[in-house]
Amino acid sequence: MKRNGSRSLGFRIGALVAIVALVGLAWGLAYYLRSKPGQPTSSRLKGSIPNNQPLPNPGGEAATFSTRGSINLTGEYFKLQGKNGQSCATCHIPEEAWSITPATLQRLFDETDGRHPVFSLLDSNNPDMDVSTKEARRAAYSMLLTRGVFRRGGAPKPNFEWELIAVDDPHGYANLNRLVHWRRSMPTINFALGSATVNWDGGSTAGNDQHAGLVNLANRLVTDRLQGPPATPEIINDIVDFQTSLLTAQLTVTGVGRLDVDGARGGPEALSNMKKEEGGFNLFDAWINSPDPNRAQIARGQEVFNSVNVSHKSCIVCHNSVNNGTNMDNDLFDIRTSSVEARTPDLPLYTFRNKQTGETIQLTDAGQGNVTGRWDDLGLFKAPTLRGLAARAPYFHNGIAATLEDVVRHYENNFGFVFTDQERADLVAFLQAL
Ligand code: HEC
Ligand code: HEC
Repeated sequence: MKRNGSRSLGFRIGALVAIVALVGLAWGLAYYLRSKPGQPTSSRLKGSIPNNQPLPNPGGEAATFSTRGSINLTGEYFKLQGKNGQSCATCHIPEEAWSITPATLQRLFDETDGRHPVFSLLDSNNPDMDVSTKEARRAAYSMLLTRGVFRRGGAPKPNFEWELIAVDDPHGYANLNRLVHWRRSMPTINFALGSATVNWDGGSTAGNDQHAGLVNLANRLVTDRLQGPPATPEIINDIVDFQTSLLTAQLTVTGVGRLDVDGARGGPEALSNMKKEEGGFNLFDAWINSPDPNRAQIARGQEVFNSVNVSHKSCIVCHNSVNNGTNMDNDLFDIRTSSVEARTPDLPLYTFRNKQTGETIQLTDAGQGNVTGRWDDLGLFKAPTLRGLAARAPYFHNGIAATLEDVVRHYENNFGFVFTDQERADLVAFLQAL
């Protein structure tokens, strides 16, 4: 009896252990599946893309040309580096000139009920918001969904030339010690012809050394955004080398066709053969007398861009790297995109005071001023590459211009340019073809 009893007890213990182990295994599997971060990229493309593969966008098609021969979508740029389910390619996708648009963010939200890893509390309107239901998530991520802007920011430092004296944040998160800056994802392209300034506000810039700036940024993002351990130099180099191999541009415009034919030099492959030099755009010189009215219009728009406006201003004073449009001197500029006049109700408004003079200024984003601490740098932003624009609306750091026509109107309404209806239409046609 005793022996039998202990044998059956042993059996029962064994069975219990087996059940516990099985339940544990099942729970572990369920947990693994649930916490499996889904897609570390927001792109629908997998594997690799051939050079010059046309990818549709609202204006026609854009394409990427890699100096490596094709675009490998499996490197470190596409891998999870940390625990929040994101990779670099969560917010920089090939279909959208390596940025990401609100339309794609809305699609990802709908496909996953707002659980795609791009929807991280780090980018919610306010990290204290409820995200327990789909509708709560839709409200918490409205800035991403409507405008495609990610939440960045930082604290003003005591040694700055300015101090923050008032804050009006419609999302209730910014305060006198915490600036919230809403920023569009920047295209990680065309660095070969680009400036050394890295980030909208130059926050990762390393003097004139573009490569060092990109290394700075990648290192910072892996820990701060992807929430990973510090990356090895091998991983960082893989990411930076990948980015600097990419050239992206519009390849076709609907109703016009290819942009690299009959003497024109649009598209990414032509760009890969160009040098970084100072000047205006010359992609469409050959089309100026084209019998095709659409081609001629694009070429006229290029002339409007290159010329001095009746207001004595010129687009290429700032966008002066040939056929790319960043700034050759790595300068940042104030084009009134963070001004009170350009503010939309969903953006915060900050009042800054100069500690020396007592002068005040109101802006929706401190721009470079929160990097350098200098009064004169408040509201300054990087002049980004102007290629592949049609793939990545809305425009400007805060997405306030929904279309390229809105961009041009911003320059008219807030910066003093004066265009005829014809000039404006030509300029927009040119920007669509970049
Ligand atoms: C959650 C979305 C998100 C993720 C993930 C992300 N980025 Fe970005 N990226 C942005 C936003 C937003 C900006 C603009 C921020 C700013 O400058 O204020 C940006 C800017 C950049 C820029 C600046 C480009 C320029 O012209 O100055 C580079 C380069 C870049 N990202 C590379 C990366 C790399 C590399 C990774 C992965 C390690 C990465 N990003 C991950 C959203 C993201
Ligand atoms: C004083 C310098 C300056 C002048 C002049 C200027 N730009 Fe810009 N441009 C910038 C800066 C800086 C930005 C980024 C501003 C921001 O996002 O806050 C920008 C952004 C843009 C963008 C949006 C790019 C994007 O990725 O969102 C377009 C398009 C553009 N400029 C076209 C033009 C055109 C067309 C003209 C002439 C009518 C022009 N620019 C004149 C400095 C300038």
